[in-house]
Amino acid sequence: FFFFFNDTATTEIYTLSLHRRSSDLGLHRLEYRGYDSAGVALVNPDGRLNVFKCKGKVSDLEHFLDGKDLGGNIGIAHTRWATHGVPNDANAHPHYSESENIALIHNGIIENYRVLKDALEQNGYTFRSSTDSEVLVNLIEYVRATSGCSLPEAVRQALRQVIGAYAIAVVEKGNHDRIVAARQSSPMVVGVGDGEFFLSSDAASIIEYTEDFVYVGDGEIAVIDRNAPLKIVTLDNHDAKIDIKKLQLSISQLEKGGYPHFMLKEIYEQPRTIVDCIRGRINPDTCEVKLSGVIDHRDRFVNARRIIFVACGTSWHASLIGEHLVESICGIPVEVEYASEFRYRNPIIREDDIVVAVSQSGETADTLAAVELARKAGAFVFGICNVVGSSIARATDSGAYIHVGPEIGVASTKAFTGQVTVMAMLALAVGRERGTVTEAYYNEVSAALLHLPETMEEVLKVAPQVADLAKIFTYAHNFIYLGRGYNYPTALEGALKLKEISYIHAEGYPAAEMKHGPIALIDAEMPTVAIATPDHTYEKTASNIEEIKARGGKIIAVIARGDEQVRRSADFVIEVPVIAECLMPIVVSVPLQLLAYYIAVYKGRNVDQPRNLAKSVTVE
Ligand code: G6P
Repeated sequence: FFFFFNDTATTEIYTLSLHRRSSDLGLHRLEYRGYDSAGVALVNPDGRLNVFKCKGKVSDLEHFLDGKDLGGNIGIAHTRWATHGVPNDANAHPHYSESENIALIHNGIIENYRVLKDALEQNGYTFRSSTDSEVLVNLIEYVRATSGCSLPEAVRQALRQVIGAYAIAVVEKGNHDRIVAARQSSPMVVGVGDGEFFLSSDAASIIEYTEDFVYVGDGEIAVIDRNAPLKIVTLDNHDAKIDIKKLQLSISQLEKGGYPHFMLKEIYEQPRTIVDCIRGRINPDTCEVKLSGVIDHRDRFVNARRIIFVACGTSWHASLIGEHLVESICGIPVEVEYASEFRYRNPIIREDDIVVAVSQSGETADTLAAVELARKAGAFVFGICNVVGSSIARATDSGAYIHVGPEIGVASTKAFTGQVTVMAMLALAVGRERGTVTEAYYNEVSAALLHLPETMEEVLKVAPQVADLAKIFTYAHNFIYLGRGYNYPTALEGALKLKEISYIHAEGYPAAEMKHGPIALIDAEMPTVAIATPDHTYEKTASNIEEIKARGGKIIAVIARGDEQVRRSADFVIEVPVIAECLMPIVVSVPLQLLAYYIAVYKGRNVDQPRNLAKSVTVE
């Protein structure tokens, strides 16, 4: 009977068992969600409640735990991505209540924590941390002390006073049989094992122990008790249905598989992930594209007046390519919105709009909120997610998974190429239904999609050359990335990759915009990565490259194999295979991923866990 409960403040809640150490377990698997401090609380068989926590990564916690009393039947643990309060020992989770009778871990943000904290202070409570989470554990204690109710009831009553997002797990002194957990907006699953339960922010972290999961719903409280069946109640105290779902995932997908970093593994996985992404969706004999999420809602797509993509980060860049694909293939006007802006902009949404939510994790708080807003406004919401069963996937009316397998490196790579692949299939499927795409173009693009895995194998061969190039450019403090048309978003994405993992400042621009300002930055110290693969703006990009060269700038150009024109003006070239123009971002992004990767490695950066970032941002 063990509980594994992983958490981030944002929280990953982890697990404990007597014979399973954290090193091989869930908390490490949740580190991608945050890694600035970590901690664990254990309830001893004699009822003692011990909390151990420290600044740093889970491996620092492991060292810190050496020689400590780790006895306990149940436990909760957490790896943090700071929201309120700097990363230090005091702000790490779990948090004790004032009396040290209760310990809590929390993923999310308590928005009204100030008001609650003031009220608690007036009642004599003091605080050891700067977190919003400590307010919640004291509120639970206060409710329990003043009303004499049980812990689950105290959690319920306390949460009714809370405004914000949370996934929490709570244990108490003297009870080594029970964990109380709850969620609102932040993800949480209960893994149901054989005589054991696990609790986590991400099912993938506990997949080695069970394939059976219960997704805790918004505003629900789960009571996991050794002496009773699993119970889930709502904040209004009604019993909620317990629906066990199966999740199949192989553990090898969660390991580095011989690569030095997850990011490199994920870059190299792309030929296979594209196979998985298109599997069963394109008929190799007829080139016909079938997406069930489109077939089932054909009329919605055929009659759509507008499509609005909402996304964040890399998914937003993929959406910009989606805009281009859908407008040109389906003739439907498209807007691309940062989910965080869309949700607060009071946007005009109509019932014949389709909102496409794009998210690797399916948990990004802003994107999820945008989905909820769109649904309330009556729009049809289509999800393009990677994580099966994720909150966004469940909140949408329909969708298409990208099926690229777990992405663990914080910098997104295979998810980006998977998203663009799905968007291309979506555009073809909808374009055919609407009659806006010619037979020849449809066949050209779908055939290119079928050959994409081989093309990705081909383009990966540039890796050694890109590694050499990276060595030359580790000195740079700034980079500019240029591209046009379909490859303008690729330039943005290339720049994002570089800044995320190498901490070099990088900007992406549409090549022709250079002359309107950024060209002032050009000198010998500021390299430019120019995407100049064949398309109708090729000649113009070639001229932009000349303009940069004339101002002493160093050029790394991504060109088509055999291109001589740009080769002559660029200082360095990376040759890539050429396929249908609309799919070129998928191909071109590979050398840009590799360039960022190798520069970061040469600079000694932590590639998979870059500073200040988290992979899954479940807070606003
Ligand atoms: C975080 C990650 C980015 C990611 C973005 C959106 O900021 O660090 O890599 O692109 O969230 O994530 P999503 O899971 O919604 O695609």
